Amino acid sequence: LENGLARTPPLGWMPFERFRCVTDCVKFPRDCISESLFMRTADLLVSEGYSAVGYEYLIIDDCWMERQRHEITKELMPDRERFPRGLNFLSDYIHNKGLKFGLYHDIGERTCMHFGPGANGYYALDAKTFANWNVDYVKLDGCFIKNINLDIAYPAFGRELNKTGRPMVYSCSWPYYQKHPNYELIKKHCNLWRFADDIRDAFDSVGKTMYNYYKQQKNLTKHAGPGHWNDPDMLVLGNYRLSYDASRLQLAIWAIIAAPLIMTNDLQTVRPAIKTLLQNRAIIEVDQDPLGIPGRCVYIAGSFQIWVRPVMPFNNIGAHSYAVAFVNIGNYEPCPLCPQTYEVVLKRLGFENDLGYKVIDLFGSMEDLGLFKPKDKFITRVNPSGVTFFKFTSVDMY
Ligand code: GLA
Repeated sequence: LENGLARTPPLGWMPFERFRCVTDCVKFPRDCISESLFMRTADLLVSEGYSAVGYEYLIIDDCWMERQRHEITKELMPDRERFPRGLNFLSDYIHNKGLKFGLYHDIGERTCMHFGPGANGYYALDAKTFANWNVDYVKLDGCFIKNINLDIAYPAFGRELNKTGRPMVYSCSWPYYQKHPNYELIKKHCNLWRFADDIRDAFDSVGKTMYNYYKQQKNLTKHAGPGHWNDPDMLVLGNYRLSYDASRLQLAIWAIIAAPLIMTNDLQTVRPAIKTLLQNRAIIEVDQDPLGIPGRCVYIAGSFQIWVRPVMPFNNIGAHSYAVAFVNIGNYEPCPLCPQTYEVVLKRLGFENDLGYKVIDLFGSMEDLGLFKPKDKFITRVNPSGVTFFKFTSVDMY
């Protein structure tokens, strides 16, 4: 969508995978979907250094609404017990922290947790209400859509957002709910779109999403770029089930495919080592690369995968630099749970600059690994359910 927004993939935080639809704030005061969760997270995004590296959008997911619209005006309302001061208060709070405010809605009859009313029949009113709350990012889900044609509904809601005059990133779940999505149409109307199942806090879920991307990558890479991105769902690192290596893996692959980096975790309890990963500037820089060319899996054999993304800088004869992730999915016989050694001749990855490439390890405090020419072999040892991640910078003539 050419609305001037999301020129690089959005970075932020969203509660859904971690906090789901907890509404009992008496029993679970720290976990319930409430203004205090979002105020606490806004504070932590800033005080823990996340906003300084680019995490910007604080997005409320499902379960924020009253179950019915206002009896007379038909406006949506936030749950009055969990958001007692209303969404303008929360939006101001978030904006005063220098952050941006995102809000969930659904194009159909009800939200996906069957919680509040969907937008059907109220596109113009709801777009206005969102604008009045100074929303900066709309996540529009697609549950309960009997008799609704998504190819008509999503553009129609987008037009109403546009009419409000308030710039709002438009995040669509549209293709996820279709058998044969029309990405030409979707990219014209949305800033990002979900193409895979809801992510879960487990390595197999991350692996499944990667495989899903790989299967569709010819199509998906064609349609992503500045203003319009593929969304593989949230970053689950910082929770319970991803090992340190699997956390690195999710982050590296999300950066390779130019994914939005939307965390879902409790920022108060993220382990220091994972926080360091989430704030790795070199990796965020790959994700945010200004060329906006999404990467792809270029090699897959057994549990070994190589993912490559062209990034800045070009050298002066036009050769790209590359971010490269070597993945060990971890079922490699005879020792599925051991680190594996991989080697590859760079020419096979399409690296053709005869002057060579300077290589740094993106997770290894930017360690300089020397100069490699296309005919050279690159050797790396990768932990199980893990990744090694490098930047190959094209050497210049002078
Ligand atoms: C769907 C979406 C999730 C989340 C939930 C909320 O499953 O894909 O990301 O928004 O709905 O109910």
